[in-house]
Amino acid sequence: MPKALRIGTDIEEAARALAAGGLVAIPTETVYGLAGNALDEAAALRIFEVKRRPAYDPLIVHVSSLSRALTFVKKTPLQAVALAEAFWPGPLTLLLPRKPMVPDVVTAGNKLVGLRVPDHPLTLELLRRVNFPLAAPSANPFGYISPTTPEHVAAQLGGEIDYILDGGPCRVGLESTIVGFPDGKPTVYRVGGLPVEAIEALVGKTKVQINASSNPQAPGALKSHYAPKTPFFTGAEERAAYAPERTGRLVFERPDPAFPEANQFVLSEKGDLEEAARNLYAAMRLLDERGFDAIFADWLPKEGPGAAINDRLRRAAARG
Ligand code: TXA
Ligand code: MG
Repeated sequence: MPKALRIGTDIEEAARALAAGGLVAIPTETVYGLAGNALDEAAALRIFEVKRRPAYDPLIVHVSSLSRALTFVKKTPLQAVALAEAFWPGPLTLLLPRKPMVPDVVTAGNKLVGLRVPDHPLTLELLRRVNFPLAAPSANPFGYISPTTPEHVAAQLGGEIDYILDGGPCRVGLESTIVGFPDGKPTVYRVGGLPVEAIEALVGKTKVQINASSNPQAPGALKSHYAPKTPFFTGAEERAAYAPERTGRLVFERPDPAFPEANQFVLSEKGDLEEAARNLYAAMRLLDERGFDAIFADWLPKEGPGAAINDRLRRAAARG
């Protein structure tokens, strides 16, 4: 039987549900997470079940501080510590060699664990309250658009989780940037809320290796992901096949005169890429709900958060 929807700002209630092995949707600065006790195998398995997530796709483990993170890892490259000190709490996930206490289900058998300190006051408080780390993927059904408001979570997973901790809309709006250290050197596996430029300013030229595969060593990199149900396109070739009145448009700064204005979502009238990132997933959901025959999105300038926005548009448009 589906659960009654419980939503609010009661950290105690969230902590109790988690301690009892339940699942709670948590706000972060990036997107909402579907959280469970990362050291409780049954809770972790339940996350996969609720999300309909394949078992090969590992979960990020959320902790309240760098020192807590270090209790779950064996050896930490110096540059990982430097990145954590500079950007945690924040939209950065580090892949580090795990200790055996982190269950196999959480890392999908990988020897590395993905760790992050999220930057949201309610969730930081919750993490300090419970005495275990929280495994949390984005709180959406696998492959669909990530949630950036509690309403997004309620609409899709409300009946299956114990509580939604309401932290308002997410400030960044894109998932964390994922960095691993093959041969000790930082490598970006998923572009995200922390721009690569910010990482490079700290550690110098950094490799970005984004593979379209289901290999957990290439995280967040499934080809088709973050996808609306409506056919979604980034190119112009297919436009002729659809009537403009039946077409949604996702644009950066101003509406496209070739389409009805009511069919369009402008991501940032002032051309601000951070604002565009914040609006992206809500815009994709709104357009998806309109029942258009197709949605056409424009590429954004590729600096700063633009690179991660374009990555999500590319995956939303990917077939298969
Ligand atoms: O901003 C975020 O990262 C959000 C919030 C909730 O923290 N979480 C998120 O989780 O986006 P998720 O599960 O949707 O994406 C996490 C990605 C997965 O694609 C997974 O492959 C990768 O991180 N990942 C997690 N742990 C890993 C590990 N141990 N080894 C390799 N990749 C890992
Ligand atoms: Mg996700």
